[in-house]
Amino acid sequence: MGQPQIITAPDRQAVGREAARVVEAALTAGELSTLGVATGSSPLPLYRALAASRPEGLSEIAAFALDEYVGLDPQHPESYRQVVRREVTEPLGLDPHKVRVPDGAAENPALAARMYEEQIAASGGIDLQILGIGGNGHIAFNEPGSERISLTRVVDLTPATRIDNSRFFDHPDEVPRQAITQGVATILRARRLLLVVHGPTKSGLLRRAFEGPVTPDFPASFLQSHPQVTVVADQVSAQGLSTILAPAAR
Ligand code: F6R
Repeated sequence: MGQPQIITAPDRQAVGREAARVVEAALTAGELSTLGVATGSSPLPLYRALAASRPEGLSEIAAFALDEYVGLDPQHPESYRQVVRREVTEPLGLDPHKVRVPDGAAENPALAARMYEEQIAASGGIDLQILGIGGNGHIAFNEPGSERISLTRVVDLTPATRIDNSRFFDHPDEVPRQAITQGVATILRARRLLLVVHGPTKSGLLRRAFEGPVTPDFPASFLQSHPQVTVVADQVSAQGLSTILAPAAR
């Protein structure tokens, strides 16, 4: 389905700047009215770079978060509702009424998940979806075993993901066991994908995602079936990719 465009940069700050350029170019081209936002540490340098440049038109866009923990108080500083407000909505000057996060505190999270899927569709869909990748190959919280056709739903977080994310909490037991996540199919419906990857813990993951077999065992491998993927990565995480995919750094 076409190869991803891979941009490498020397460090996480430079990754953020390069990724911000991709977002800015989409805005300038009039191709960005709805942005999909990831949380976690990978896109933070991108959000900071965008907050610094505040390109024209940025404040008018709508946004959808990728996922949210189930059962975590929405006021908890690590709920994705709060993370998105703190790292995206406020610094980028977005209209809070146009920024949506799945309702992980809903009485019926499965219903909230289905409604979120419908809201995305009703909005006309996501123009540009920002993504990170988990150590186990998850995208959003589509853990290994997630199917290509999966939609927004409630999922169980794997022990590996809970351990990874315990860095954001005071105690590992505080990490929720479930989340509402956009599905693989939901993500692949976005018109364009922007995957941001940096840091030593991400080494080897891009190779598995883009040069390994397409399999639910490594959900990021489904990105191979999207025609418009841009990856911005530091050298450590781009290591091991064939030179066709990852030409020399700028
Ligand atoms: C976040 C998300 C996750 C993260 C992934 C990488 O909304 O859906 O898939 O992108 O776990 O996390 P970091 O960037 O913290 O390494």
